[in-house]
Amino acid sequence: MENRSQWGTRLGFLLAAIGSAVGLGNIWRFPATAFENGGGAFFVPYLFALLTAGIPLLIMEYTIGHKYRSSSPRSFSKISKGVEWIGWWQVLISFVISTYYPIIIAWSIMYAYFSFGTKWGNDPTGFFVGDFLNLADAGTFGSVVPAVMIPLLVVWVIVLFFLGRGVKKGIEFANRIFIPTLFIVFFIIVIRAVTLPGAMEGLDAFFKPDWGSIFDGSVWVAAYGQIFFSLSIAFAIMITYSSYLPKKSDITNNAFITGFANSSFELLAGIGVFAALGFMSVQADTDISEVVESGVGLAFMVFPEIISQMPASGFFGFLFFAALFLAGLSSMISISETYIAGLQEKFSISRGTAVLCGGGLALLVSLFYATQGGLNLLDTVDHFINNYGVALAGLFEVVAIAWFARSLKDLQNHANSVSDIKLGIWWRICLGFITPLVLGCMMILNLKTEVSRPYEDYPFDFLFNFGWLVAIGAMLLGAVITIKKWPSKDKES
Ligand code: ALA
Repeated sequence: MENRSQWGTRLGFLLAAIGSAVGLGNIWRFPATAFENGGGAFFVPYLFALLTAGIPLLIMEYTIGHKYRSSSPRSFSKISKGVEWIGWWQVLISFVISTYYPIIIAWSIMYAYFSFGTKWGNDPTGFFVGDFLNLADAGTFGSVVPAVMIPLLVVWVIVLFFLGRGVKKGIEFANRIFIPTLFIVFFIIVIRAVTLPGAMEGLDAFFKPDWGSIFDGSVWVAAYGQIFFSLSIAFAIMITYSSYLPKKSDITNNAFITGFANSSFELLAGIGVFAALGFMSVQADTDISEVVESGVGLAFMVFPEIISQMPASGFFGFLFFAALFLAGLSSMISISETYIAGLQEKFSISRGTAVLCGGGLALLVSLFYATQGGLNLLDTVDHFINNYGVALAGLFEVVAIAWFARSLKDLQNHANSVSDIKLGIWWRICLGFITPLVLGCMMILNLKTEVSRPYEDYPFDFLFNFGWLVAIGAMLLGAVITIKKWPSKDKES
């Protein structure tokens, strides 16, 4: 194991881990989630989720990667042969995410360009679904949209280039450039947003607490869901990244730094987005709740409208989409690294071959999202893979480690042997009891909503083929891959 790739410096690892965590989820998911789930009061379940699940799980994943110094499936198999499939399941979840995540980065490239001269005109929504995506009905793919496919290929070239160069010269190098640039760019946007007329009304709406909401179970579910997606846990990412840490590395401290940096960025995004929405609601003389959107709607329909009304719109539009591009790219690199590392070890192949095979396959699949029906496909796959992929795999992961393999005490001792902040019984209680309980309830609530109404009223066979089958398929295929034995000696990059 001596020749395993390593991060060049501690800062390099931290920037890569923060780069993975800070992604589209922080910019477009958090602000609307917080607003819709109690505003200022949402911070109570959010902080609870961060401290009882987010950071404890991050510590657990860092410890597993650091102790077993292998990809996620290999690490799980070293804990117990019976849990290897959870590692592959998470790798496959990341594979699925890596087929649609770059599409959003590709749209950001185009929108950075469209910002100059606000090419979306007076009707950004019509422009996005009509002129730009040429959107077809759910279930129809139609033809490939060149304006999406070309930037998509550019994104893949960048991602595969950095992955091919390896951990230190590729991933670490990329994050050393992307993350500081992202923070500077985003800071400029937030300063601009809070100085716009109406910004204070937006912030008031964002922070106004609705204390009644903390008695609502679905608000807690939203908080845990946000923490999981945002911190990149149960994606196989953090195990893979921490497997490249040198033997003498502090684990607990690194996890707290990653967790708090990610949440600080999330808060900053909430402030920036709501200040901008406040500006828009004042301009349009409507209530802020009328203009709040999340996800694709926020970034590619509402924001272009705000940008059009801002002074120096081309410049600030460019900065906003550049921020999405940088945040997305650094997360995308981490998502893809999970299967590069897994393939390399399982099939004893070089990094270059793993990048070509794994990345090449993901690239081919991603072309489906570059078709006229791509947006509906993306929306469906994203919904199912997050709710019945990431969150469910997280539940299986904690139960497997805490109750099946009974490894928590062992992992605690390992983390304590290298870290300044020592873990106590609180850590085992969080992972052994609180997290499985909340995630279990979350699953039941999600399933109840799912069966009560088809997601977004899409046709049933469409949801079945691209939602349920993809999510369940990742789990089953994960189990199938474990049939192949590990090579006797892992080939290192
Ligand atoms: N953690 C990444 C995000 O927030 C996946 O988008």
